[in-house]
Amino acid sequence: MKFRLLSLVLVMSGLTAVQAAEVNVYSARQQELIKPLLDKFSQQSGIKVNLITGKPDELLSRMQSEGRNSPADLLISTDVGRLYRAQQLGLLQPLKSNTLEQAIPAALRDPAGHWFGLTTRARPIIYVTGKVDPKDLSTYEDLAAPKWRGKICIRSSDNIYNQSMLAGMIAVLGEEKTQAWANGLVKNFAQPPKGGDRDQIKAAAAGVCDIAIANTYYLAAMFDDPKDAAAAKAVSVFWPNQSDRGAHINISGAAVAKFAPNAKQAAQLLEYMSGAEAQAWYAQTNHEYPVVAGVARSSVLQGFGEFKADALPLIKLGELNQQAIQVMDKAGWK
Ligand SMILES: [Fe+2]
Repeated sequence: MKFRLLSLVLVMSGLTAVQAAEVNVYSARQQELIKPLLDKFSQQSGIKVNLITGKPDELLSRMQSEGRNSPADLLISTDVGRLYRAQQLGLLQPLKSNTLEQAIPAALRDPAGHWFGLTTRARPIIYVTGKVDPKDLSTYEDLAAPKWRGKICIRSSDNIYNQSMLAGMIAVLGEEKTQAWANGLVKNFAQPPKGGDRDQIKAAAAGVCDIAIANTYYLAAMFDDPKDAAAAKAVSVFWPNQSDRGAHINISGAAVAKFAPNAKQAAQLLEYMSGAEAQAWYAQTNHEYPVVAGVARSSVLQGFGEFKADALPLIKLGELNQQAIQVMDKAGWK
């Protein structure tokens, strides 16, 4: 009897392994910003999604320590600098997908297919309305001019967003000019860098500085938050470098894990996320820009206006990350 029960259990678990397709997602995006989309994917595909959320760098450490035994199939993270790092650490595998190549512009994915951008975010100049005349604003480069002494709020150099922004400047201007720029910008700080992007906008609204540098989704989300809405309404977006390379952008994206036990299902989920319906939901929920052409932007983002985005292949931001960090260190950017 005991033996028969055991064989029955074995037969049943064997069946489960064959029948129930699943995919394990490691997500740096919070549960509520991704789960409904994954549920929809499960409904449509019959593939069960197991979601693990965590901080971006923690997820990478976890994948590293799990090594070949990692259950991770799909990594969802933000900022190309981090996705590039994951690839450098040997945590990703390349994916060849015509669907993804057609849907996602080439500059927003790894040429070798290790990672794919799913949304973009921009890092514009945000100024206090009425305090700064937008006619006095032009480029990121101009923010290093002496006329902005003590007027700029920006977070610390250990944050990937600023590292990526600097890397983008090095790619176009070269290291020497970027160094001179960083030196000048640091002189213009209103205070030693502290807090996140949202804190820079709040500091500007509170009168600490005239200008903040922050990612678009932070400002967009502040409008929904009763405690930050007043600060959001006190500032305006200025799109820099519109007559040359365009405003700095970055991505949120996803990648198939190197040792993915369910690589096929991971690819299926990634392709699903590049579809128009998924793009619309995902971008709107995260206050980001869809990567797929023709998908509508949220009304808040529409309010920020049209802009020319830097067309630099984003892999450059990963490649130049270390150089960017050195430039910031030399400039005394805390
Ligand atoms: Fe962020």
